[in-house]
Amino acid sequence: MSHSNSSPRLVQACHKIPLDRPPIWMMRQAGRYLPEYQAIRDKVAFLGLCKNPELAAEVSLQPLRRFGMDGVIMFSDILIPVEAMGVPLEFTEKGPHLPQTIQSQHDIERLIIPDPIEKTGFVMETLRLLQHELSTSPEVALIGFAGAPWTLASYMLEGGVSRNFTETKAFLYNEPALMHQLLEKIAQTVTIYLQAQMEAGAQVVQLFDSWAGTVSEETYQEFILPYQQQVISGLKSTTEVPVILYVNGSRGLLPLLKQSGADVISVDWQTSLSQARQILGSDVALQGNLDPNALFTRPDVLKPIVEAMLVEGGSQGYIFNLGHGVLPKTPIENVKLVVDTVLNSAKAQRPLTPLT
Ligand code: CP3
Repeated sequence: MSHSNSSPRLVQACHKIPLDRPPIWMMRQAGRYLPEYQAIRDKVAFLGLCKNPELAAEVSLQPLRRFGMDGVIMFSDILIPVEAMGVPLEFTEKGPHLPQTIQSQHDIERLIIPDPIEKTGFVMETLRLLQHELSTSPEVALIGFAGAPWTLASYMLEGGVSRNFTETKAFLYNEPALMHQLLEKIAQTVTIYLQAQMEAGAQVVQLFDSWAGTVSEETYQEFILPYQQQVISGLKSTTEVPVILYVNGSRGLLPLLKQSGADVISVDWQTSLSQARQILGSDVALQGNLDPNALFTRPDVLKPIVEAMLVEGGSQGYIFNLGHGVLPKTPIENVKLVVDTVLNSAKAQRPLTPLT
């Protein structure tokens, strides 16, 4: 198939092709820990940056230029399609703020399923610019993404970042049918949004269900899994682009994550890579799972942690990443140390025996 040896290392890892080292990228690899990002942010607000394809593409490429990762994730935010559905969105110092939360059936009925080109064309334009920029680096994968229905619904119901998800959970217990109606609408939106990203050049997509680890198994079965499945099977019906599913706090839920149909499951640091592999089996690839706080340790502490992960993860069906996003004050030299350790690991390994 076309994805065998000419496709980027990251895509090959998603398809579990044996490699001489795993690919590496980092969630939130573009952002405030980089002075070159900060320099752009000093001049433009966060949402303005997301909506300016030239600047968004520039910021997406900053970590590649500095560190040489195997993937470039387009610079955007999971809440962009939420705004396109008709929910006003602002970003403050403290993060996202949605002043008009969803409270009733009427609110849900008013939400639109936006045409991704018409309403979020700037995202597709960012991807097209990145595809063009990366045409001379075919080994680097272009990564698209979206928030998964549950995580996006939680922002619509809470109005921002939440500690306890009280509004979301009260709504689902009080109004389960309405919750399904809301999730269904978001699932349709996310499916066509990701399809458009693939058409615009995304070679891998990651579905962020960041807050799906906060619920019981029963709630996950009823309100989360079916919508992850709906999005992923919708994508699979039209393309071969691999899908990565990320859930923070997924330890007890891994068997359910596997049922999503994703090609790759991205795990956090609560589960060791070998435990995750044991639970997930070998038919899905694995991504993760360095604790972002490990990047605040001394280099002599950090390097052996990374080396141990390389041994544990192996070089087939494994993508080196963090267990969650890079934190704002992360020391740059430690990001470099992690990336270099992974990039140089090919030399340290025995060459693969060629198939005869
Ligand atoms: O480099 C990349 O990974 C691409 C860019 C990216 C951003 N947000 C940029 C961003 C991606 C993939 C996201 C996804 C995202 N956004 C998630 C899922 C990932 C996760 O962390 O679980 C979530 C939950 C959001 C919502 C969001 N956006 C929050 C909660 C915040 C505030 C917290 C924070 O880190 O500031 C944002 C803002 C945001 N998104 C920033 C960046 C670089 C910081 C904004 C700034 O520059 O001031």
